[in-house]
Amino acid sequence: MSDSPVSILGIAGSLRAQSWNKKLLAAATLLVPPGATITTFDIKDIPLYNEDVREQGYPEPVAAFRAAIEQADAVLFVTPEYNYSVPGVLKNAIDWASRPPAPPFGKKPVATLGASPGMHGTVRGQTQLRELCIGLGMYVVPKPEVYVAKANEKFDEAGNLTDEATKKFVAELLLNLAGFTRTLRGR
Ligand SMILES: Cc1cc2nc3c(=O)[nH]c(=O)nc-3n(C[C@H](O)[C@H](O)[C@H](O)COP(=O)(O)O)c2cc1C
Repeated sequence: MSDSPVSILGIAGSLRAQSWNKKLLAAATLLVPPGATITTFDIKDIPLYNEDVREQGYPEPVAAFRAAIEQADAVLFVTPEYNYSVPGVLKNAIDWASRPPAPPFGKKPVATLGASPGMHGTVRGQTQLRELCIGLGMYVVPKPEVYVAKANEKFDEAGNLTDEATKKFVAELLLNLAGFTRTLRGR
């Protein structure tokens, strides 16, 4: 059981096609350690949260999102920072997943990553995201903290992550997420 593969759900906090964070998530899928896999979920079809709608039943994209979280062993958020915080599209998706019955994020291990063309590499946004994850009852992998600053210098024309130091940090974070998940299994 504790040796069975660890399935990680990767969620990008940006909708745009050329997103640095989508590219970083794609890079993470290649840096995942043996015995773990990352599948991705695109939040683009999730509508704006509306309690009246929720009371009528979860819209199909929201139900699919909740099911994908439920089926995963762990979660990886890869997100930009908007105005020093979590982008509205990601917060909105998280809000949908936080509602009853059986909110699926609860007790899932989670790691966060983020890329920005700026100097701070999403440090402020990720700090808020981790706090949010604690509120959801998730288990946050604390280290390494991976803030990809000057993202425009770290990928090639085809969108591949080329910066070796960043690759090393991402691989270490994923190793810790997989190990953390195995440790927590059955608890
Ligand atoms: C509404 C908005 C707010 C932003 N706020 C910040 C910010 O607080 N810090 C930062 O480093 N970059 C900020 N940016 C710039 C983003 O880091 C940049 O657009 C980045 O490429 C977005 O991520 P993506 O490439 O994954 O879409 C902001 C961009 C937008 C559109």
